[in-house]
Amino acid sequence: MDKSIEHEFHFSKRAQQLTSSAIREILKVTEKAEIISFAGGLPAPSGFPVDVIRLAFDKVLRDSGKVALQYGTTEGFSPLRNWIAEEMNKEGANITSDQILMVSGSQQALDLISKIMVDDGDKILVENPSYLGALQAFSVYQPNYMPVLTDDGGLVPDSITPQVAKNARFIYALPNFQNPTGRTLNLERRQKLVSIMANLNIPIIEDDPYGELRYNGTPKPSLLSLSNKLGGNVIRLGTFSKVLAPGLRLGYVIAPTSIIKKLVQAKQAADLHTCTLTQMAVYEVVKDGFLEQHLPKVRNIYKTQCNCMLEAIQKEFPAETKWTKPEGGMFLWINLPEYIDSTELLKKAVNRNVAFVTGRPFYIAPGYGQNNTIRLSFATVPEEKIKQGVSILGQLIKENL
Ligand SMILES: Cc1ncc(COP(=O)(O)O)c(C=O)c1O
Repeated sequence: MDKSIEHEFHFSKRAQQLTSSAIREILKVTEKAEIISFAGGLPAPSGFPVDVIRLAFDKVLRDSGKVALQYGTTEGFSPLRNWIAEEMNKEGANITSDQILMVSGSQQALDLISKIMVDDGDKILVENPSYLGALQAFSVYQPNYMPVLTDDGGLVPDSITPQVAKNARFIYALPNFQNPTGRTLNLERRQKLVSIMANLNIPIIEDDPYGELRYNGTPKPSLLSLSNKLGGNVIRLGTFSKVLAPGLRLGYVIAPTSIIKKLVQAKQAADLHTCTLTQMAVYEVVKDGFLEQHLPKVRNIYKTQCNCMLEAIQKEFPAETKWTKPEGGMFLWINLPEYIDSTELLKKAVNRNVAFVTGRPFYIAPGYGQNNTIRLSFATVPEEKIKQGVSILGQLIKENL
């Protein structure tokens, strides 16, 4: 028997802030083969370029194995950082590669940024609802969350008054196909947000894992590129998780060099550096324009599945429900009539072998829709199953009207 089970260990106050993600708890239920799960947030494995990645690892190990397996610099593999800078500059970012730190997935960046910027009780501004993984990362540092109003167009910049923002360490924003709502910030709101935050001298964390997964509408400029004429107070997070594969655990932070220097020290303390082999292999994959031919395939997978879900919802859901029509990404957000509690609906849905995530865990404060919203992911569900699952959900909602 494991004696440690009987022993009461002492955990730090910080560790007491650590909670299991509500989504992971739901995912345990959804592991049963018969469940149609719209709950997960995983990218479609059919979009992983397995052979290309295998060849790249092979080539790196064959040609530069000793370098790839050695310790590397904390900042990251220079050719890959140069490539990222060039790509961002095509979009108008006007950055240099020393403004880039490679990280083990953008999730690590959320932790490192909080580590260097947030003390107990410091105010941070977050969209309400927001990405659960970010809330988990921030909460360890015991911030004082200030919710920022969102509506059907995403974050509402005009709600960020000097009083709301006073002494805030940063605002965390998801401008493209937000997780969980699928909403996108229009150009006017982007410009307003960037200008308001520049005037208030508060950094914006722009988290953009899904930006390249746009399958409808026109691309919008990043907050980073909009900010560079206004003094550049944007910290942008990017990742290879959704354009190549999440198991690579490779992302990056773009920030003013004074912030990068502090992040480098924090990363040194955390894990020395991001896997050199992976960075070299990913550089091998992307350096000659592979993403240009690969991304249309990935976008097409999501577009097809998103359209299938939207059509099924239109057909099966009652008129009393509202839903987002994402221009990209992996998620749809459903507003049920206010008297339907999404947690109760989930229990009934699981009994009929359909799962989703309720809206509640994404809210850091009471907000519009917190009890009657649900997040649906279409990313890993085949079309037939999408139709079947949405039909069951529609039926259930109608039964609860
Ligand atoms: C909004 C958002 N930010 C960050 C992440 C973390 O991504 P990564 O795999 O780069 O750590 C995710 C993952 O789903 C996400 O949805």
